[in-house]
Amino acid sequence: MRTDTPQLIRLSEYQKPNWLIDNVHLDITLDDGHTRVIANISIRTAQDGSDNPLMLDGDELVLESIAIDGKQLPASAYTIGRKTLTLRETPKVPFLLTIVTLLDPAANTQLMGLYKSSGIYCTQCEAEGFRRITYFLDRPDVMATYTTRIKARKADAPILLGNGNQIQSGDLPDGWHYAIWHDPHPKPSYLFALVAGKLGKVSGSFTTRSGKHVSIGIYVESGKENRASYALDALIRSMKWDEEVFGCEYDLDIFNIVAVSDFNMGAMENKGLNIFNDKYILASPETATDSDYANIEAIIAHEYFHNWTGNRITCRDWFQLCLKEGLTVYRDQEFSADERSRAVKRIADVKTLRSQQFTEDSGPLSHPVRPIEYREINNFYTPTVYEKGAEIIRMLKILIGEKKFNEGISLYLSRCDGTAATIEEFLACFSEVSQRNLTHFAKWYDQAGTPRVSIIESYNPELKRYSLTFSQETPATPGQPNKEPLVIPIALGFINRDGIEVSLDTSHPDFNENIFVLDQISSELTFNDVDSKPILSALRGFSAPIILETSPSDDDRLFLISYDSDPFNRWQAAQGYAMKLLISGANQLRAGNQPKFDPRFSQALSQVLKDDDHAFIAQLLTIPSENDIAREISIDIDPESVRDSRLCLKQFVGKEIGHQIQDICEKLTTTESYRPDAQGAGRRALRNVLLDLLSSGYSDIGLNLTLKQYQNADNMTDRFAALSIIAQHPGTVREDMLNDFAEVYGNDPLVLDKWFSLQATIPEDGTLARVLKLMEHPGFSIRNPNRLRSLVGSFAAANLSQFNRKDGAGYEFVAKIVIDTDRSNPQVAARILGAFKTWRSLEPRRRTLAQAALQTIERQEKLSPDVGDIVMRTLAEN
Ligand code: BES
Ligand code: ZN
Repeated sequence: MRTDTPQLIRLSEYQKPNWLIDNVHLDITLDDGHTRVIANISIRTAQDGSDNPLMLDGDELVLESIAIDGKQLPASAYTIGRKTLTLRETPKVPFLLTIVTLLDPAANTQLMGLYKSSGIYCTQCEAEGFRRITYFLDRPDVMATYTTRIKARKADAPILLGNGNQIQSGDLPDGWHYAIWHDPHPKPSYLFALVAGKLGKVSGSFTTRSGKHVSIGIYVESGKENRASYALDALIRSMKWDEEVFGCEYDLDIFNIVAVSDFNMGAMENKGLNIFNDKYILASPETATDSDYANIEAIIAHEYFHNWTGNRITCRDWFQLCLKEGLTVYRDQEFSADERSRAVKRIADVKTLRSQQFTEDSGPLSHPVRPIEYREINNFYTPTVYEKGAEIIRMLKILIGEKKFNEGISLYLSRCDGTAATIEEFLACFSEVSQRNLTHFAKWYDQAGTPRVSIIESYNPELKRYSLTFSQETPATPGQPNKEPLVIPIALGFINRDGIEVSLDTSHPDFNENIFVLDQISSELTFNDVDSKPILSALRGFSAPIILETSPSDDDRLFLISYDSDPFNRWQAAQGYAMKLLISGANQLRAGNQPKFDPRFSQALSQVLKDDDHAFIAQLLTIPSENDIAREISIDIDPESVRDSRLCLKQFVGKEIGHQIQDICEKLTTTESYRPDAQGAGRRALRNVLLDLLSSGYSDIGLNLTLKQYQNADNMTDRFAALSIIAQHPGTVREDMLNDFAEVYGNDPLVLDKWFSLQATIPEDGTLARVLKLMEHPGFSIRNPNRLRSLVGSFAAANLSQFNRKDGAGYEFVAKIVIDTDRSNPQVAARILGAFKTWRSLEPRRRTLAQAALQTIERQEKLSPDVGDIVMRTLAEN
């Protein structure tokens, strides 16, 4: 491999900046290949910076000139390295550095720095994109105020947006115009942004609780304004919620959001000017599904919430990424829980955590929530930093209680405001207010791997004594062979045979309000005066991000499905039961037998159907995905038997309770017109899960109902759900429907993305050929991140049996795309390559083939740091 293998950056080697920047004046003339950036940077030495040379970061820049206090520097005054510019001599007193660079935004296919996408100029600077605009101290602990003058041809770019408030604008000769934006809040360079182009605007406003008027603008492709109203509504709700729940008020006169169609990530929290992947802004009932609406709401909230947790308080260095991301994910999860159903949201979040983070943590890319080293920071925006980072916050709240947690948050927000902070500073706030030592708890940030906790129950009827023996173990992960016990809050519930919660007493100091805090390798909890053995409901609400290894009896599981008062654990009991059947089904299939399933499972589901929380029942009736099953099997996986076992179980349930399902489907049919609210979404989700089960047995009734729904739907949720069900059943009906869908929505890229990804995830042998053919579809573009992720990303990450084909063709295909994409957009290529992280858990033949594909990538002449880093770690033996 010949990559420009970057240096390892280590947390232990962090040094404060020697130089500081107070303010930055940028003058940017947008002109395609001749875009000129004049940066006027006021620089001074840090107090203890002494006489270190000034070394600025830069990446793919063309330098036109450089001056100090207005005096041009000769070439001998500085050296330009591949990623740096170093000044030989610098004044001892504060000085003004003027740097002029030339950029070609239209040729910027990496979509990092300043780029032009579908006619719109925009920026993406996190983590290290600002250095692609000008030479700079591009690190988050250098915070400055920014003034940006943007100049462009008025006909090409009537809209000119920057951070902060607009302070001036006007026309210039020859059809040019300009705008000046000023952001009074000091910020790191990664929060800089500008946007220019032809855009439609949807306006709104918000008055903060202290009476400040905020003008809101949501900018989208002209003609799509009517699809931005939900985003605006979600933003206003987020602003209100953050005041009420976290006491965070908005701090500028303007808040703008721009939706762009070429974007590497989901969205970005630039100060006062959030930039979004348009997929997370645009929605109408005809084009977006309920889950699109839920995602939009969550991501709008997430980026808005960063205004405090991320922007006003930023990260000292990129090792502290979870300081802003983990906390902000926690905040957006709480927001969605408050806006919708808390129980259903928790289930959804745990599903994501397990499918993304647990998978990452059990493979070669496992790393601590706060990594200690990295080569490419882009590769550390991971489910571990985000999702496990959010779980740590949630555990902290459980441990110290809601009141102290809120006090700690307030202290953090006031004490660290305006600074670039660390996890230590964050935790110190909670330690202080709760008077608790959080040193042991903090291990969660440093130790990788998912802890496994086992609970052994015993009951002695003579002594009326009930005891639980807990033990924990965390498996070795790359670079961390030996693990220490963690502080694990385990929420417990006890239910008697009549389905009533009982409260049990113990003198154990670590058991309070039904939370047991396990902080040793093993501990025992003993309860006295227990008349009969209760049924244990452990890890209620998923109180810690662990794998619980209790194996309740079938009877207990069935009991909990019906009687647990904790909705998460009711769902978990059903999932656990299904999982047990699925794994034994897969084993039987692998041995050449037809699986036999336990009818008590479908009877339990049938009971659940009598409840009335539609969204919750829908979750409970959803059979674990192929990837879920594979993760549970964890070694020597045979993808085909996993797929077939799942199909068989769905068929079984569909047949066993088909009549009831049909009845309920009819009752759930409504003539009400579509609204994207939680209640309606729940009803649709349930109906669609039921239709899927009913159709699984190739029941004509199910398939006909589904077809009818496709034809009559007044919204994308129902129409696409119907298409997804039919897509699982080979035949001409399916092909006709797929063609019909493409005809109707062929001009709508975001809708077409659903169509691409649906087809890429069909678990059939013909799918790879289908994907190859779809790459020729006029609506496909390999250079657009959303298109590529929909087709190839979904195939690699969400089609277990076809990515992991027996002949290795799935691996070869994805490897080829990764190599090709790496030349234009390394960040996106590295993300797709991530699908290989499970390769060691497959059966030996596939393992060999996956390894060979990875080695093909590794052998490439030139790899980006992004792909080079992932391929190296994925292949490494630990
Ligand atoms: N700060 C990130 C955006 C980002 C991610 C920049 C990676 C650079 C590299 C933003 O706040 C974020 O987290 N976006 C998420 C969506 C969010 C709801 C979890 C994303 O883009 O996936
Ligand atoms: Zn974020």
